[in-house]
Amino acid sequence: TENTDVPIVIIGSGYGGAVSALRLCEAGKKVVMLEMGLNWEKAGIPFSNLLKPGKSSAWLKKKSIAPFMNIFSLTPFTGILDRLDFEHINIWVGRGVGGGSLVNGGMAVTPKESYFKEIFPDLDADKFYSHYFPLVREELKVNVIDEQFLKDCPYYKFTRVGEEEAHKAGFKTMRVPNVYDFKYMEKEFRNEVPRSALNTEVIYGNNYGKNSLDKTYLRKALETGNLEILDLHRVQTIQLNDDKSYTLNVQQIDTSGILVADKVFNCKKLILSAGTMGTLQLLLQSHAENNFPVHEKIGKKWGNNGNFMTGRNWVKPLSGGTGAKQSTIPVGGIDNWEDPEHPFFTEIAPLPMGMDVATALYLLINRVDKKGEVTYNKTSQSLTLNWDKSNTVKMKENAQYFIRKMNKANGGTRSHLLFNNGFGADICYHPLGGCVLGEATNEFGKLKNHENLYVLDGSLIPGTIGVNPFVTITAIAEYCIENLIKQNEFV
Ligand code: FDA
Repeated sequence: TENTDVPIVIIGSGYGGAVSALRLCEAGKKVVMLEMGLNWEKAGIPFSNLLKPGKSSAWLKKKSIAPFMNIFSLTPFTGILDRLDFEHINIWVGRGVGGGSLVNGGMAVTPKESYFKEIFPDLDADKFYSHYFPLVREELKVNVIDEQFLKDCPYYKFTRVGEEEAHKAGFKTMRVPNVYDFKYMEKEFRNEVPRSALNTEVIYGNNYGKNSLDKTYLRKALETGNLEILDLHRVQTIQLNDDKSYTLNVQQIDTSGILVADKVFNCKKLILSAGTMGTLQLLLQSHAENNFPVHEKIGKKWGNNGNFMTGRNWVKPLSGGTGAKQSTIPVGGIDNWEDPEHPFFTEIAPLPMGMDVATALYLLINRVDKKGEVTYNKTSQSLTLNWDKSNTVKMKENAQYFIRKMNKANGGTRSHLLFNNGFGADICYHPLGGCVLGEATNEFGKLKNHENLYVLDGSLIPGTIGVNPFVTITAIAEYCIENLIKQNEFV
């Protein structure tokens, strides 16, 4: 077994990991990042579009794993999208250097200040809204679609129709910023560059146009010369040593998932940024298998960020319709957050299936009134999620209310085609919580009961943030790592 000593290890290359890497490298620290997924840029393997998923589209699966229409068989490969299946909920995550940024819709939404204050009463909201949020929007290259392009482009008929219908039903709409480069999209439309968003690419990766983390934070961190990223390196368990350092048991795999080498990494400082589910798995499994100390709050206050998918089919498809051509990048949302009875936010989502299916798709984001809990099952060696229908009652009520109101004003039916009676309570893109900031960690993400271990990812957010979460995850990571460096945690 190869045995390596390194000062600082970061596990995972999503938002939390990428921010930590950049700020530590800028401060002159040598950092090794371990990522179980593939370095796609280096591998040079093209991504598939939604209509024709190839081997790069799924993490070691025999069949494609989109939320619907999985008719495609695959050769198992360390693909870009993974799905974790629990009894009442399926959770999608990204795999590769860049984590979720490789597969997500790029929607870059800053949370409502009032809700941010409710969720994080101890954070200085003024500082977040004047400094951290603007900083991360800049680093992530967030931009907004040109209104004239939106008006003219046939690929955004689904947004225009969706907004018109929302207004007719009395809802308020909002423009949603994104990290996809809209200037690039305009060139795609004019056929000056290869197409990506206009060629149904998104959850299996974008070959062009999208500013995922490998093009922003991680690129900058690599440019310092202080970062080494090891891909296809999966951390199995963590051990705490007598001198308070950590030993990581790591498996290096090949692209078919076969073990290439068992490796051991010893580090003084460890940052867990494996994403909500990855971080909880590492902590709880290490606790169960080798007495790794964890605080009692680990696993508590988990939530799906109120994710609830729903859809509508048109009664008269030809009079409305969402268009045969659809961009994969959502730019419109319905903001019903201020309604005390039915507070929700929903994205007007594309459904680019290559034909006009006369169906509108919505991913609602609700409050999470009843939170779940994550534990570890030693027998099955996997996580158990304490989460069932009772956790999503209010979310379903909101979806029902929304669909009824939209149909009353515009016609149409609840979508029975896509999922269970038109309600996808089991579709989760935004797992959050389980290692809550200031509860399982100190005020800057240092894990309680540990001296050299930090958690910086979505698990710090207590299960809900009211909008798509990556802007918040990035801002909290910036805040934590800045303060941890200031406190000389990494000297
Ligand atoms: P993230 O999950 O990004 O990164 C964790 C990394 O750690 C992964 O690369 C993983 O492979 C790696 N890892 C895990 N365990 C490991 C181990 N044991 N060893 C080594 N590596 C390990 N959000 C948003 O704001 N706007 C949007 O439009 C969308 N849309 C969207 C669509 C889809 C399909 C998905 C799946 C998700 C979204 N999201 C989103 C959610 C967003 O992508 C998500 O919240 C963030 O990526 C979470 O960031 P983290 O830093 O927590 O982890």
